[in-house]
Amino acid sequence: MSFRTIEWRDNKVIMIDQTRLPVEEVYREYADYSGVAEAIRGMVVRGAPAIGIAAAMGVALGAREIIADTFESFFRQLENVCDHLARTRPTAVNLVWGLERMKRVALAHRELDLKSIREILKAEAISIEQEDLKICKEIGRHGAALIKEGATILTHCNAGGLATAGYGTALGVIRAAHEAGKNIKVIADETRPWLQGARLTAWELMKDSIPVTLISDNMAGWLMKNGQIDCCVVGADRIAANGDTANKIGTYTVAVLAKENKIPFYVAAPISTLDLKLSSGDQIPIEERAAEEVTRVQGVVIAPEGVKVRNPAFDVTPARYIAGIITEKGVVRGDYERELKTLVGQ
Ligand code: MRU
Repeated sequence: MSFRTIEWRDNKVIMIDQTRLPVEEVYREYADYSGVAEAIRGMVVRGAPAIGIAAAMGVALGAREIIADTFESFFRQLENVCDHLARTRPTAVNLVWGLERMKRVALAHRELDLKSIREILKAEAISIEQEDLKICKEIGRHGAALIKEGATILTHCNAGGLATAGYGTALGVIRAAHEAGKNIKVIADETRPWLQGARLTAWELMKDSIPVTLISDNMAGWLMKNGQIDCCVVGADRIAANGDTANKIGTYTVAVLAKENKIPFYVAAPISTLDLKLSSGDQIPIEERAAEEVTRVQGVVIAPEGVKVRNPAFDVTPARYIAGIITEKGVVRGDYERELKTLVGQ
């Protein structure tokens, strides 16, 4: 990859600032956990797996800031760090997954001195980032088998290298198909209001010379109706036990349009995005973001002052619209309730 989404370097967390792309490629440095929390909330880093990595690195930074004499005191303060990070964004379950994993690692090493525990937490956060790269390549390998030679693939939002450690989930499938020599093309929905598709997906695919065409969100249905889309691949922020999938607002619209036009609609996500405690998508918390994201485009006012606004950042696509969920362990189809449980060995 020609960019790094997030990395641990010299006891700091470095992130590419996704609020500035594609205008400028700048990297931000964070030396404390509250800075990382602000970066997640402000979407310097975004995308479910990348948020999970950032949260884990935030915990590792927080562990360095804690002053304690005993493990109990250390762990109480570590829980506060985790609570602070958990409050940043509610929908992507990878955030909580990353925090819980870091807490488990701390508890498992409670007999060690605090200096060693801090080092172990740092190593764990770095390995979460490295594992994500491998996981996305596996998702890509499984997903690429579903992509036909010469296919035009529609994607929504950015489930790419920028949303992960560097390869992507939905864009991982696309990258793997491209690397396998399939002559594919991508249609990227611009993804209002935050424009992840226009600003991020188009940017990273062009960097890798993968053919991409940008459309505004309301064009997808027309292209589908005219036979110009062969399949859809999107990422996920949280997948319930029955396969219902939360992803960027507008994903549900794409899925319904795909079904109407008999086009397969795939979700690509790591197992860390599954939340099998939730029986259905109705229980997934949906983040509501600031009105200014809707009333302005890149700072330019486009709506009358004082207009009422809704800005749910995610929607839930019912499982019946999903042709398959592509994970690092393979593709799940059909009876999601049963197949997802089998996949994770429950
Ligand atoms: O609000 P964002 O940009 O964090 O939303 C991102 C998405 O909805 C992605 O599609 C999802 O996190 C999958 S990323 C591999």
